[in-house]
Formats: sequence, structure tokens, C-alpha cells
Amino acid sequence: MQLLDGKKLSNKIELQVSDEVKLLKEKCGCTPGLAVVLVGHDPASAAYVNMKKKACERVGIYSITHDMPENISQDAIEKIITNMNNDSTIDGILIQLPLPSQIDERRLLDLVSPKKDVDGFHPFNIGRLTTGLDGFVPCTPLGVMQLLAEYDIDVKGKNCVVVGASNIVGKPMSSLLLNANATVEICHIFTDNLKKHTLAADIILVGVGVINLIKEDMVKDDAIVIDIGINRNDEGKLVGDVDFENVKQKCSYITPVPGGVGPMTIAMLLSNTLKAAQVNSKERA
Ligand code: GUN
Repeated sequence: MQLLDGKKLSNKIELQVSDEVKLLKEKCGCTPGLAVVLVGHDPASAAYVNMKKKACERVGIYSITHDMPENISQDAIEKIITNMNNDSTIDGILIQLPLPSQIDERRLLDLVSPKKDVDGFHPFNIGRLTTGLDGFVPCTPLGVMQLLAEYDIDVKGKNCVVVGASNIVGKPMSSLLLNANATVEICHIFTDNLKKHTLAADIILVGVGVINLIKEDMVKDDAIVIDIGINRNDEGKLVGDVDFENVKQKCSYITPVPGGVGPMTIAMLLSNTLKAAQVNSKERA
């Protein structure tokens, strides 16, 4: 069994992004800028946003966080997003999810300029991804693809079982795998007999937020297991969706939690923000 080390690869990517940021600054005096919208007091969201901010600092990306109260109106957030769409110092806009229930999430995501959509959640970019065209790709599944590539794992022709069908992870993950010529099956909360599906998988990719969902009797020998879940167990420890200690014995490769997919998500946000800034600088030139 070999660990897929997302921490190590994300450090390597941060160095590359950092070099490219310097180059861009030298070439056109542009500093890539990321605006983050954080609404309410969800501790997990605040922690993620903080990690994103720190990562921006490490690579020289300017970042600003719009910290908004839980009871903010739809109108007020929409005004901020429109301002950021028109702000030339901002290359990327990220709305941290989930949002409070009074907010229409889809309307906000649709309002973000597709050129600044570093999360890849706008229908324009979702359409480009499903069509196999270049665009912004959601950071977590993009990070998974880069992690697989780093370890020379080619998904072409492999049976990939994606567990979870969210817009953030499962659906874009499936599109990326399909674009790379994998055979893709998507399982979700209504899937009957999950084990039957996962047992046939060469690669299992799971991100649903259920501790120990994937157990050793659900994984075939030498399978590759990608754990996209992030949960806190009863002891307050970060764990994924896979029963890691028991499943790892059967795998050829497996991602740890923490230190697997999580750091890759942040690295891809930096890389998407750099990409947005590079395109914007060319258009302004
Ligand atoms: N909430 C959980 N994951 C994500 C993510 O990748 N992007 C945003 N914006 N919010 C999230």
C-alpha cells in the first residue's frame, strides 16, 4: 500500500504558483487577487476560509474576505458580488458554502462572473467541464486528478465508482474522470447495495461526510481509494469517509485524512486564481 501524499504535492504546487505569481508581477505589475465571501459563524467554514487566506499569503496572492453577518439579505450580498465583478484588483471570487437558509445560493453563484469563478460553480464553467472544454474546474475534484497524475495513475478504462453526487464534488469528479476516459459509476444516498458497486471498483472516490462509510469488505484487493470526506469524530479528530486503518491493508494506494485531498483543494484554488489573473492581465494589456 502506498499513501497518496496530498500535503507533499500541494507544497510543490504552492512553490510553482509562487514562482508564476512573481513572474506576473514582474511582467505587468499585476498581483493576483482573490475575494472570499463568508456569511455567518459556521466554525468549519471560518476555518477553511482562514486556511485559504493563509495559503494566498504564502504564494503572494492578495486576498480580501467579506465577513458578513448570518442575517444578511440576498440583496446586500448580490451588491458585493457585483462590485467584485467590476473590481479590476479582483481576479477570483469565492463564496464559501454552505450559506444561511434565507439566501438563494444558486442566484449568487450564477451572478459571479464566469471569468472570476475560481470555484468552477457557475453553469458556464460546469457546461465547459462536461463538454470537455477549458474553463474553471471545482478545486476538490481537480486536486484529486492532479494527485492521481502525480503518482502516474491513469484512469483510462478503469472502473471508477464515485460515491456522492454533489455539485461541488461528485458531479464534477465524474465529469473529469469521464473526460479522462474512465468508466464512471455514480452512487448516492438512494443507491441500493452500495457494497455491490464499490466491490467492482478499481478506484473508489468517496465524499459524502459519513464516518467509516467505506469498510474493508466493500473494497476489492489492490483497489485505489480516494477519501474526499472531512468529518470530526467523537474525539474531535479529523477523519474521512473511509475506515482507513482497516481499508488501507487491501489497497494499492489510499489518501490519508488529513493530508490527502484537503491540501490539494487549497492548492487548486491558488492555481485557479493564478490562471484567472493570467487571463485577465492578457485581456487588459
Ligand atoms: N464548502 C465546502 N467545500 C467548498 C468549496 O470547495 N468551495 C466553496 N466555496 N465552499 C465550499
